[in-house]
Amino acid sequence: MLALEGVEVRYGPIVALRGVSLRVSEGEIVAVLGANGAGKTTLLRTISGLLRPTKGRVEFLGHDLKKLSPEKIVRLGIVHVPEGRQLFPDLTVKENLWMGSYTRCDSFIREDWDRVFSYFPVLRERLSQPAGTLSGGEQQMLAIGRALMARPKLLLLDEPSLGLAPMTVQALFRFLKDLNSRDGMTLLLAEQNAHLSLGIAHRAYVLETGKIALEGLAEDLRRDPKVQRLYLGAEVSAS
Ligand SMILES: Nc1ncnc2c1ncn2[C@@H]1O[C@H](COP(=O)(O)OP(=O)(O)O)[C@@H](O)[C@H]1O
Ligand SMILES: [Mg+2]
Repeated sequence: MLALEGVEVRYGPIVALRGVSLRVSEGEIVAVLGANGAGKTTLLRTISGLLRPTKGRVEFLGHDLKKLSPEKIVRLGIVHVPEGRQLFPDLTVKENLWMGSYTRCDSFIREDWDRVFSYFPVLRERLSQPAGTLSGGEQQMLAIGRALMARPKLLLLDEPSLGLAPMTVQALFRFLKDLNSRDGMTLLLAEQNAHLSLGIAHRAYVLETGKIALEGLAEDLRRDPKVQRLYLGAEVSAS
């Protein structure tokens, strides 16, 4: 579905991605793990067309994304839930959800609206409340709900667990797993939380200073000594 080949992205003299190759197949949950500054956000913003690679290929369903605007990429079915949610805090829950469907002119909008509430019933109770007054967990649900209103084929999630309480994060990851198994949604999940991500992903890539350091099946990476030492050890002993 999605293929990156040798992608390099720079911020002026800084090389943020160094020859990244990665694949996502339809129906998969793929995690991109990495510490702060590893290049996760840069990677997702490149896929969305917000940043342009200086080298390499980015293809989605046979289209060369390097040639397309971010809006065209959304229309192809790649929808990005950005780091820090980026809702419109003064607009209501309802208005934020409708923002997600602005690129559409099909007749399934009502169906998706109902689907968002089937996943997140709490949002229905908050429809006329300003988004900025929701709890962190509710805001993350709204950000994902807004993305679902664009009827994605591939959902990009940038650190959805950031700043949420552990219980909320667990509920969120259960939801992401459901979205994949129930609706067949394909997910590319950028996360620092390796423990939970490897718990729901089929495959994962480990990004270190802009390079893919490791890749494999999630279950194999969970057993990998390096992953355990660098990405799982601290979390296991902290929990
Ligand atoms: N707008 C920017 N200008 C210059 N450097 C940036 C910019 N955004 C990110 N970087 C640098 O690129 C690298 C990767 O950042 P980022 O993709 O945000 O990592 P992550 O999301 O994994 O924390 C870091 O070294 C960061 O400092
Ligand atoms: Mg980031």
